[in-house]
Amino acid sequence: MTRHIILASRPTGVPLPENFRLEDRRDPVLGAGEFRVETKVFSLDAAIRGFLDDRPSYLPPVELGEPVMGMSLGEVVESNNEDFPVGSYVRALATWSERYVLTPSALGLETVHPAPGVPLENYMGVQGPVGLTAWVGINVIGQVKPGETVLISAAAGATGSTAGQIAKLKGCKVIGLVGNADKAKTILDLGFDAAINYRDEPDLAAAIKAAAPEGVDVYYDNVGGETLETILPLMRMHGRVAVCGMIGQYNDADHPYGVKTLWQLVVNRITMRGFLTYDHQEHLAQAQQELDGWIASGALKPLANVRHGLERVPEAFIDLMSGKTTGKTMVTV
Ligand SMILES: NC(=O)c1ccc[n+]([C@@H]2O[C@H](COP(=O)([O-])OP(=O)(O)OC[C@H]3O[C@@H](n4cnc5c(N)ncnc54)[C@H](OP(=O)(O)O)[C@@H]3O)[C@@H](O)[C@H]2O)c1
Repeated sequence: MTRHIILASRPTGVPLPENFRLEDRRDPVLGAGEFRVETKVFSLDAAIRGFLDDRPSYLPPVELGEPVMGMSLGEVVESNNEDFPVGSYVRALATWSERYVLTPSALGLETVHPAPGVPLENYMGVQGPVGLTAWVGINVIGQVKPGETVLISAAAGATGSTAGQIAKLKGCKVIGLVGNADKAKTILDLGFDAAINYRDEPDLAAAIKAAAPEGVDVYYDNVGGETLETILPLMRMHGRVAVCGMIGQYNDADHPYGVKTLWQLVVNRITMRGFLTYDHQEHLAQAQQELDGWIASGALKPLANVRHGLERVPEAFIDLMSGKTTGKTMVTV
């Protein structure tokens, strides 16, 4: 038998504990080419909130009464596939389950080769999807150049804290927007040049202008909505907006905020581009190499919020979707 976290009801707004339940289910027999994986690390991602609504996103919704989907890193414990032998580690889109069965066509399936002494969580965070996302957003979409000013929202979060450090390593001035004073201290400790607690600023535009009097060259957007509306008029000529996500909209996707400053795209010839990390395969080997090097040298610091036990997955996800977390939210099993 295997324990799973099941979608019991669809959330409206921020998810609640009663939207999920723990359930034991019999393990299926492996088919040809399939392999069974035991979870080591669950990744809690804002994108999962979209899969809980009954509407197609870039993936179909989770069915009511079925295990919730999410990225997982685990060890192969039974295999009918010689490419994924017992004892190997894989990362893939799986389910919130202690064990699950994968086929070679599983979304995002990759073999992971953990280096001795490196925590397994790093391969789900800063040396995994989080680091790769931040790297693509800053370098490929943001096209940062040394000396430019980079502004990052949700800057103490998983991708934000990593993107800010990468932009610093590329020689930029980096400003982070965060939701409380502890998060502001955290990003300053990571080397950001300035931190703005947007909840404490009656005039956010004035606070950003004070930190970036020369304007913003690259905005790495994690939140969308009113924040994006405020920032577009503060961009410099030929600025770039790397749209990583819009977490500010996910809990109420039926009522998206209407951004009223899009004309600034023309005024300042701004390029605004959304991205999904795995569309940029041609850059990922270089990204991985740089991330591994920075971690080994201590130039890049992982920021993680790690809890333990399958039963804590809903709580970790709810905290993520309530803005309560700092760093990459994960649950180890
Ligand atoms: N494009 C890709 O390939 C890709 C990959 C991974 C993630 N993403 C995107 O990256 C963004 C950040 O995701 P993450 O997993 O790294 O999460 P995270 O940043 O670790 O956590 C979310 C943070 O977002 C901020 N936030 C702002 N408005 C919020 C709201 N209405 N509800 C909840 N949080 C809010 C909060 O920080 P403050 O309190 O500081 O505001 C919160 O701590 C998301 O938009 C996600 O979709 C994109």
